[in-house]
Amino acid sequence: MTAATYQYVDLPDASVVTTRALLTARENITDTVAARAMMCIHGGAGFGKTLAVNTCLRGLEPGEDVRKITFRARPTARAVRYELFAALDLAGEPPRHPSEFDRLLKTALAERPRTFLVDEAQWLNGEAFEYFRYLWDEPSTQLAIIFVGGEGCHTVLRREPMLSSRIFIWQHFTRLNPDEVLEAIPLFHPIWADADPDDITFADSHAAHGNFRAWAQLTAHTRTALARTGRPRVDQELLRWAFSRLG
Ligand SMILES: Nc1ncnc2c1ncn2[C@@H]1O[C@H](COP(=O)(O)OP(=O)(O)O)[C@@H](O)[C@H]1O
Ligand SMILES: [Mg+2]
Repeated sequence: MTAATYQYVDLPDASVVTTRALLTARENITDTVAARAMMCIHGGAGFGKTLAVNTCLRGLEPGEDVRKITFRARPTARAVRYELFAALDLAGEPPRHPSEFDRLLKTALAERPRTFLVDEAQWLNGEAFEYFRYLWDEPSTQLAIIFVGGEGCHTVLRREPMLSSRIFIWQHFTRLNPDEVLEAIPLFHPIWADADPDDITFADSHAAHGNFRAWAQLTAHTRTALARTGRPRVDQELLRWAFSRLG
């Protein structure tokens, strides 16, 4: 599978780069799933968390039942139940009463081991996190849960000792440092493969700042500039034009 599925901007020819953070995530996710444990990956927007986790989950054993839940607003415990109902593809109408709903979810989760990827978990409040803990703690379920979220995710989780004390592995995603940029970016896209390393450093220090999403956007604009000018290779003039679009 190509990286295109997980690219923030449509960027032909981009590749998934096996960064150190991605390798660490792979190990952490493998161990968390094997232990049917919970882990938390947190860090700033655009640092590559979602792409890394999705890439690693695809590499798990073929039989592993992975369900993805992405929050886009602050959910109540009730909304969490509905999301789980949908993620598990349960048939029929969602139950009306919370206790009935809990029973249904626990029964479904007791069927076989599962892995939940809960993305954008910085939206979860204490009550919502607590609901995941409740299901995870239930003896009949064999759940592994990977919470992925912005920096706020760590703060909220830390305030919930019942849950945070059960987190098996914490992984903090950070921006690429300047050396990692020089290793990763030439592998990310062909326009950087033969670029002058000084130009890559120039682009990083002026615009992308080790943020992978910013690199993806910068690459898209630079690609356009190369096509329009017919130049064979990235140069600082093209880069300045691309920066001007990034604000
Ligand atoms: N390891 C990587 N290899 C290639 N591109 C990446 C990688 N990590 C991130 N990206 C690029 O950066 C964008 C943002 O990454 P994403 O995982 O969505 O960040 P986050 O979830 O931390 O906000 C991706 O859509 C992709 O274009
Ligand atoms: Mg994300």
